[in-house]
Amino acid sequence: MDQQKQQSRAQGRQEDRRETPGIVGPGSNAPGLVILTGAGISRESGLATFRDPDGLWAKVRVEDVATPQAFARDPARVQAFYDARRVQLRDPAIQPNAAHHALAHLAREHPGPVLVVTQNVDDLHERAGQSRLLHMHGELAKARCLNCNEVSPFERAGLAGASCPACSAKALRPHVVWFGEMPLHMDEIECWLTSSCSLFVAVGTSGQVHPAAGFAETARAHGARTLELNLEPTELTRSFDEARHGPATELVPAWVDEVIRLHVALATDEQAATPATHD
Ligand code: APR
Repeated sequence: MDQQKQQSRAQGRQEDRRETPGIVGPGSNAPGLVILTGAGISRESGLATFRDPDGLWAKVRVEDVATPQAFARDPARVQAFYDARRVQLRDPAIQPNAAHHALAHLAREHPGPVLVVTQNVDDLHERAGQSRLLHMHGELAKARCLNCNEVSPFERAGLAGASCPACSAKALRPHVVWFGEMPLHMDEIECWLTSSCSLFVAVGTSGQVHPAAGFAETARAHGARTLELNLEPTELTRSFDEARHGPATELVPAWVDEVIRLHVALATDEQAATPATHD
């Protein structure tokens, strides 16, 4: 293929790149991908979502188990709720699925930075090998001491009776963000959304809980394209540039393949179009 053809093919791909969610547009100074995940990504691993008909909030009231007031009123009930979820997470049947693995693969292969922000308190992203991950709603397998604020690993039932490894106080609570509390890592997330995000992707989240529900809008206001990957349309679907609907284990690997294939093709074209140099 002569150089002119190579250049025009590369130019065609550059145009594809502007059209394809997930690909950094030419001239963009915000080359990162930010992927927000919610309970839907872990559904096919066997963990319930919150707001689906068989979700956790259909079985128990938020006000009874997921607020600071509930913990003050009935700590035993709140601890029992999180003990049960923590034990379930360590059931050998609960494993990362194809969507978690695909996002870890994307982070390894994508030439630009990739950040996964999860609302999930499970650890399935880490178990899939996700390198850059922020748990904005905390982590089920950790405890926080109400006496000294130390956050420590805790992987079993019985948090109420356990002592803090740092100060020995029996004052451990689940390291999860309850309704009415401030989500974690907000400064870092905000920084990515406003300065390092060319594409924002929401996976498996109903978009009903703020601040996460506002991330797509923030990213878009700062020049990012936005893509929703969810089992079904959500209240936010129409505000995304593109939405694809189906199970996460199908949608996410297919989208990741698309992004990686296009990057490989672009890199090959760019290499072929670069004039050879001679010593
Ligand atoms: N693949 C993709 N999406 C799925 C799948 C699946 N297999 N199964 C369910 N979903 C979608 C549902 O259609 C729904 O839109 O996942 C979404 C889950 O929504 P929620 O249950 O509201 O969970 P999430 O958005 O993560 O909730 C946010 O609310 O209660 C709090 O702190 C909790 O972090 C949680 C926050």
